[in-house]
Amino acid sequence: MKTQIEPFKIKSVEPIAMTTREQREQYLKEASYNAFALRSDHVTIDLLTDSGTTAMSSKQWAALMDGDEAYAGSVSYYKFEDEVRKITGFKYIMPTHQGRAAEKVLFTALGVKDKFIPNNTHFDTTRGNIEFNNGNAVDLLNEAGKHPEMIADFKGNMDVEKLEAFIKEKGAENIPIVMVTVTNNGGGGQPVSMQNIKDVRKVCDKYGLPLYLDCCRFAENCYFIKQREKGYENKTVLEIAQELFSYADGATMSCKKDGMSNSGGFLATNDEKVAEKAQTVLIVTEGFLTYGGLTRRDLEALAVGFREVMDENYLRYRIGQVEYLGKKLSDAGIQIVQPTGGHGVFIDARDFLSHIPSTQFPAQALCNEIYLESGVRTVEIGSLMFGPNTMMELVRLAIPRRVYTQNHMDYVAEACIEVYKRRNSVKGLKLVWEAPILRHFTAKLAPMD
Ligand code: F0G
Repeated sequence: MKTQIEPFKIKSVEPIAMTTREQREQYLKEASYNAFALRSDHVTIDLLTDSGTTAMSSKQWAALMDGDEAYAGSVSYYKFEDEVRKITGFKYIMPTHQGRAAEKVLFTALGVKDKFIPNNTHFDTTRGNIEFNNGNAVDLLNEAGKHPEMIADFKGNMDVEKLEAFIKEKGAENIPIVMVTVTNNGGGGQPVSMQNIKDVRKVCDKYGLPLYLDCCRFAENCYFIKQREKGYENKTVLEIAQELFSYADGATMSCKKDGMSNSGGFLATNDEKVAEKAQTVLIVTEGFLTYGGLTRRDLEALAVGFREVMDENYLRYRIGQVEYLGKKLSDAGIQIVQPTGGHGVFIDARDFLSHIPSTQFPAQALCNEIYLESGVRTVEIGSLMFGPNTMMELVRLAIPRRVYTQNHMDYVAEACIEVYKRRNSVKGLKLVWEAPILRHFTAKLAPMD
């Protein structure tokens, strides 16, 4: 059988907005040409993010009713902790309301002022939290990962040689931790190989540095390892995940991704001293140790979600759906980050709109044009997000988990292809207003004359 079917049936449906081109022109203008400011009922298919947009299963909805809303010692926390420990093996597991809260707690506990934190590619909030604490976030991605058109199995890998050179240059005493993000969101949802994690671990051991994973999409990463890395084809995703985490000293996670739920995160560590400090920060800024700012029923949904995300029928469909959309676009001549990664298709806007210079935000211009064409909302990962020195100009079509069908994907592909046909008429944008940090969320733009 060639057709890959969604491995679920639909029990509850939610209508989506159908809009006209004239309406969308008005909505986008009102949003100052920034899709973050669009109302979601003005969006037909929302590919802004795969974060917190998951459709929960009937078992997760049922689990919500079991939420034990005790402030301290909630049974729901212990269910959540058991699942996270089964996968990661970490000693101290602190829930947070989402990933960036775990980052804030970790970097506050570590004290990163004037220090350096290397990563394959920091996600924007990770970078934001380091910089907010007056530290320096450093990206050390392998070379293949920087070239959208280049085909390689593990384009999320850290450049291990660069990492070692960097540690020698700055001094291990100025590097509180090394991080690796799985999968590498900023670089196209590309996976990191087990070998790369082992190599990073070796360097960390040599210089006495702890290794932390940003593990939002660990299950997708482990599925790629199973598909692509020798020696893992017969292991379960759980076994692969357990090995992956065994090389790390801790992790931050936004559970809004591979936790298969709409909120949540955690910080985990094996280091008692870090845990002690982090627990204090957690209590002061997030909530008590057994809820970290979440309703306890959310911890129930996560405990179920962690089991469901490692189901290989699900992962085959998940990665297959992203691949399906990517193939439709690349067959039409649109350059995307190749091969497709875990959670979305990333269009190379530098290639798509080669007549628009980086100073005029080509990826943002493309997001807007896709919205005008179809009501599909996407997100810019380029010069608006990262500034003029951005590595790539990408438009991310992030696919929410278990939400959209193959017909929706066909519609998205048609919209992108229509814009591609008239790409030469698309104009760049100018910045009208920006915030001092994480400007892409709230920036106001206007079309070039
Ligand atoms: N790390 C990575 C790799 C992420 O992709 C995200 C969120 C975070 C950390 C922060 O987690 O949102 O729960 O606070 N990524 C979302 C996205 C927002 O659209 O890619 P959060």
